[in-house]
Amino acid sequence: MCGIVGYIGQRKAYPILIKGLQRLEYRGYDSAGVALIDEQQHLNVYKAKGKVADLEAYCEGKDTGGSVGIAHTRWATHGEPSSQNAHPHYSASGRLALIHNGIIENYATLKENLVARGIAFRSVTDSEVLVQLVEYIMVSNGLELYEAVQVALRQVIGAYAIAILDREHPSQIVCARQSSPLVVGLGAEGDFYLASDASPIAEYTDRVVYLNDGDIALLRLGDELHVVNLSGEARHPKVKQIDVTLGQLEKGGYPYFMLKEIFEQPACLRDCMRGRINVDADRITLSAVIDYRDKLVAARRVIIVACGTSWHAGLIGKQLIESLCRIPVEVEYASEFRYRDPVIYPDDVVIAISQSGETADTLAAIEQARSAGAFVFGICNAIGASIPRQTQTGVYIHVGPEIGVASTKAFTGQVTVLCMLALTLANERRTIAGDVYKEMVAELVRIPEKMELALKANEQIERLAPIFTYAHNCLYLGRGYNYPVALEGALKLKEISYIHAEGYPAAEMKHGPIALIDSEMPVFVIATRDKLYDKVVSNIEEVRARGGRVVALVTEGDTQMAKLADHIICLPDTMECFQPLIASIPLQLLAYHIAVCKGKDVDRPRNLAKSVTVE
Ligand code: M6R
Repeated sequence: MCGIVGYIGQRKAYPILIKGLQRLEYRGYDSAGVALIDEQQHLNVYKAKGKVADLEAYCEGKDTGGSVGIAHTRWATHGEPSSQNAHPHYSASGRLALIHNGIIENYATLKENLVARGIAFRSVTDSEVLVQLVEYIMVSNGLELYEAVQVALRQVIGAYAIAILDREHPSQIVCARQSSPLVVGLGAEGDFYLASDASPIAEYTDRVVYLNDGDIALLRLGDELHVVNLSGEARHPKVKQIDVTLGQLEKGGYPYFMLKEIFEQPACLRDCMRGRINVDADRITLSAVIDYRDKLVAARRVIIVACGTSWHAGLIGKQLIESLCRIPVEVEYASEFRYRDPVIYPDDVVIAISQSGETADTLAAIEQARSAGAFVFGICNAIGASIPRQTQTGVYIHVGPEIGVASTKAFTGQVTVLCMLALTLANERRTIAGDVYKEMVAELVRIPEKMELALKANEQIERLAPIFTYAHNCLYLGRGYNYPVALEGALKLKEISYIHAEGYPAAEMKHGPIALIDSEMPVFVIATRDKLYDKVVSNIEEVRARGGRVVALVTEGDTQMAKLADHIICLPDTMECFQPLIASIPLQLLAYHIAVCKGKDVDRPRNLAKSVTVE
């Protein structure tokens, strides 16, 4: 969950590292630090509690010279956020500095052994154990850093992406990965960049190497990249081209990334469908389905594994696949699936959904499914991330980097891919009539245009938002395809405004949550025109009868609801199964504006991180 960045080259490292940390701040932002080796071979480490801006303020007036350095932005796991627990961590002699993203599971045992050998620790983190262990091995065996890291990591259990500086060898950085992402950028002049994802690197080079689990890399100025595995055998790094534009990494005039990403959705969905739906808008071609047609078409059952917002997308996927393809679908929290000893058949297809492609729970669920012989299909946004590399095949959602911690465009991208997947499989399985298939594909292509219309509600929602800042609890209701939309709307509000919110299937309300309703309880209801519309109207009546305040999302032209609800937000009409793509938009905007009214840091909500690479 932390972000790590490094540079070695001819340029001043400090500004590159700070900019890199800013790009990675979505991964964690409770403390930050930087280590630099200056021209006099001093190893300077600066750390501060708080955000990257706090670190910059702390560094003002200090020696930030040197063209080699590493930096870290933290999301605390072991030890409270403080400058002491912030990274980089020094080794006992002060010769080495290390940054780490991940969790060292056997840190207590390792620490006990090191303490018994007289090594004093300065922090209470699991990470510090790595730097102390590496130095201890270097000194006691007379090894170079690169060799000592290989020996040390053989003793380590857990997840890590690390980078280490050695003040005695200022022209190198050693880094390694196991279950936490790490990308090395290859500069044009023998210089190297490294980071948790490609976003801090994209500005300087488009040639990158995604390290694999067990890889240990030596970045030596002017030399080529050396990579070995834990046994010291040489590996041949595969150089990839990245395609991230600077515009995708900047706010582009919006006050927050989240708002920019909400407004980008029509364009993102066009990108997601481009090349997959033909110009006549009547045929979908997914290469993953062509390549693995038999496996997918013959699936006895589909199991979707995901977390958070991606899990909500999975709930929509379930309804799509069951109704269009007539294949039973189960949707599992990856975190539960991995420990539940589930029944998995070899003819099951497991679909793993993840924006970041690095979610530890989802990765573990994939491993479990694969070891049980299931075929695993990934739906992911981050190119080259671990999930697409660990699934047999899959589809990228292609919505561009999502920086705001609260997922928006990735959610609608995931749902769009699930729509395309369900339609493709249904067509292959002949569970959908040809004309219905064509009609649905054509409607899917029209969705971005309809999203643009839905976005026009922004100003209305901005005006409404202050009314709800007082609320301590909110209820979100929806039915059918709109039930996961209600869950997602509630999650968005919780994440960024810290208002407690619950999503419920509207009809379930009377089995409990109705007890909560009073005049202080806003209830957001997705009441678009579909087969359950009349039932939802009855549910709204029940809320009104108890004094609840109702905001209803309705289909344009609905006059009945205008009389019933306190506020209505009109949405363009579409087919029921595509409604989540439209109805999510006002709920994203609502959460955004309420959080802004409450003065919250929308892009970096407290306690959260964008990519959850720990259990
Ligand atoms: O990267 P992933 O899609 O695997 O992440 C899963 C969840 O951590 C994520 O969706 C989380 O719930 C978001 N903060 C939602 O806005």
